[in-house]
Amino acid sequence: MEAKEATGAKPRTERADFQETADPALNEAADRTADVKLLTYEELYLLWERQQWQTQELDFSRDREDWHERMDDEERFQRMYGLSSFFIGEQKVAEELGPIMRAALTEDQRIFLCTQIADEARHVRFFERFYREVGVLESEGLSQMLEETSEHLNDNFGRLFDEMLKQRTERLSAEPEDTEVLVEAVTLYHMVIEGMLALTGQHFIMDYNEREGTLPAFVEGFQNVARDEHRHVAFGSVFLREKAREDERYKAAIQRTLEESLPVADGVLSPPWAPEDEDYELFGISLADTREFAGTCLMRRLKVIGLA
Ligand SMILES: [Fe+2]
Ligand SMILES: [Fe+2]
Repeated sequence: MEAKEATGAKPRTERADFQETADPALNEAADRTADVKLLTYEELYLLWERQQWQTQELDFSRDREDWHERMDDEERFQRMYGLSSFFIGEQKVAEELGPIMRAALTEDQRIFLCTQIADEARHVRFFERFYREVGVLESEGLSQMLEETSEHLNDNFGRLFDEMLKQRTERLSAEPEDTEVLVEAVTLYHMVIEGMLALTGQHFIMDYNEREGTLPAFVEGFQNVARDEHRHVAFGSVFLREKAREDERYKAAIQRTLEESLPVADGVLSPPWAPEDEDYELFGISLADTREFAGTCLMRRLKVIGLA
């Protein structure tokens, strides 16, 4: 396998297009001060227009070779946990964002959330294309593929998406004017699921593939997915900062949602087959390292929102 050629290159998160999102987790200043500039909803929309990309442009032929010829059964099986969690996670967030978009408090918020729905749809298609072009699964259509890959998930994944998130989006569908539930939903969706889980998983999965020199088109597409996620989390940060400043009640709602969901989200970090002992390694990264990375990103965002 080729060694990573990017030695000495700038980390991905320091790239101008990642920095442009103004996600507080990418800004070291957020360790020290809450007074960090965030983009407005309108600026986030304009950034979305500039940051378009196409799943159909990716050429997965090298990835196909890597998957079938450079990996053994065991490695392919181990990789299925991360891939399946992302593939199904993207499908679920695409589905659940509608009620949050409808409940948005201003037109500027709503228009941004409409762009986010398009992004989440593209992320689902990205995974579908990767699975199909590489030959990860044999399933015919998208829904069969999702069904087949879901056997790799763990129970906490189901609790987080099908119970905690769904409960809130169903409530918002029935009562879109319930701003406290909207605050809870954005905390869970943008801060915990996207900010903490997705961006942490993406970071380590891309790093591993870059180190090993594997799945180049997957890494290329996944970087675009990650950049989109930073933009989404930037929306969550500006929204929650506004709400937290407006009313103690909303601050309490953010706090309460984090307390309820963080232990479950932490459980999503470990595959169902992970060893029981606390500090196992997966793809060269320990659970402790993963938690530390996720924790730092969350703390920076909470500080900017006004909660830490
Ligand atoms: Fe996504
Ligand atoms: Fe997202």
